[in-house]
Amino acid sequence: MDKLVIQGRHPLRGTLPVSGSKNTALPLMAGALLAEGKSTLDNIPNLRDVTTFSHVLRIAGASVNFNSAEHRMEIDASGVDYPEASYDLVKKMRASFYMLGALIGRCGRARVSLPGGCAWGPRPVDLHLKGMEALGAKIELDQGYVVATAPGGRLDGGVFEMQPSSVGTTINLMLAAVTARGSSRLENAAREPDVVVFGRMLQQMGARIEGLGSDTLEIEGVDTLNPVEFYNAPDRIELGTFMIAAAMAGEPGEPVHISNADPDSLGDAFIDALAKTGTQFTLGADYVDVIAPEELQPVSIVTGVYPGFPTDLQAQWTVLLTQANGNARVVDTIYYDRFKHIPELRRMAANAIVIGNEVVVEGQNRLQGATVMSTDLRASVSLVLAGMVAEGETHVLRVYHLDRGYENLDGKLAAAGIQIRREEYDEFADSVLEGHMTEA
Ligand code: EPU
Repeated sequence: MDKLVIQGRHPLRGTLPVSGSKNTALPLMAGALLAEGKSTLDNIPNLRDVTTFSHVLRIAGASVNFNSAEHRMEIDASGVDYPEASYDLVKKMRASFYMLGALIGRCGRARVSLPGGCAWGPRPVDLHLKGMEALGAKIELDQGYVVATAPGGRLDGGVFEMQPSSVGTTINLMLAAVTARGSSRLENAAREPDVVVFGRMLQQMGARIEGLGSDTLEIEGVDTLNPVEFYNAPDRIELGTFMIAAAMAGEPGEPVHISNADPDSLGDAFIDALAKTGTQFTLGADYVDVIAPEELQPVSIVTGVYPGFPTDLQAQWTVLLTQANGNARVVDTIYYDRFKHIPELRRMAANAIVIGNEVVVEGQNRLQGATVMSTDLRASVSLVLAGMVAEGETHVLRVYHLDRGYENLDGKLAAAGIQIRREEYDEFADSVLEGHMTEA
């Protein structure tokens, strides 16, 4: 297994390039299944989740060719004939559940494993299932699998209001509705940029969708869709992560340049919160320059749906708050228990406590390097950020969580002044696991 070893307190300087968006790439890949023929997707990040999902597509019968150096993926969906996604793959990555919409849209039926739990909570899929039923699918559960059938081979379409708004449900229902016989309306639909970019790809394939970027999507089903050439959006969460990194680990007065970015995709809440910390930044057309302040001001945040503060940036924000000159709070309203990083940060001498769905963070904290454990994607990047400002050496174990969603993070940070290296380690060696052994 790999770990990252970080020598703290070396300033971040120079340029950090942003890769293509993970959470947009996955629906784009699912969307390519809807058309017979070869689609080409560019700016696809080289990530573990992309590899996993390529495998899911192949099992359904698609041919997937990924040139990871050029970030170009070709998907030939002509041979899709096995409408199934197995437990083995769905349990590895919840987004495999997009196969439900993609396969029912393409084949009129799907057998997809239920995802089960997640590292930080239950993450139900009830809305996906109720939504499919509202569009006319017959849904049955069979030994941990959802079996969805479109009577007569095609869905009728229908109206569904999701409560709460859900990114995954919106995407799954779009996949199912664009080739339905009739029209559909999705209410309280997600407005996240990932959904908008995905909708644009479907439109380019010939789908009839109105209302992208609003909370009501009107979809008129079409008989067939065409393959597409499409350029994926930059990753907004990676951009936000880099902006936080620059604000807390950059040299005051010296800009850190973040390239290949789409600043509009972050949403106002994040931009406003970062400005209030005293961080200066310039939002360009495809870049952001960030200048760290002499002293960060403490700014409390509450996560929300777009354009609210992204839940995928709250763990990183918590680390920034440890460096601010006062106390502040982080409240997550999307996921009530997404705080697995807090006990690990406490091992680095952070003073942060979880109360319900809220974390209270003490500022002016001199973090200390330690051996810490990644538990999920955003938690693990928050530990890397903490290691960058901590005194001494930090070992972040189980980096495979990080590799799911950040392309070459260690390489990018090393090129921007951070002392970081990747090492293999033996998970079962006593010395490494010291401090992580707990009684059952
Ligand atoms: N929800 C339900 N029932 C459902 C579906 C969702 O109650 O059937 C609830 C969830 O429990 C949550 C809320 O709705 O409280 C919103 O969840 P959503 O469905 O929007 O999340 P998701 O689609 O499962 C995506 C991203 C997550 C990101 C969330 C929120 C992908 C592959 N995943 O998940 O990204 O946190 O939206 O923005 O796009 C990550 O990248 O680290 C990550 C976890």
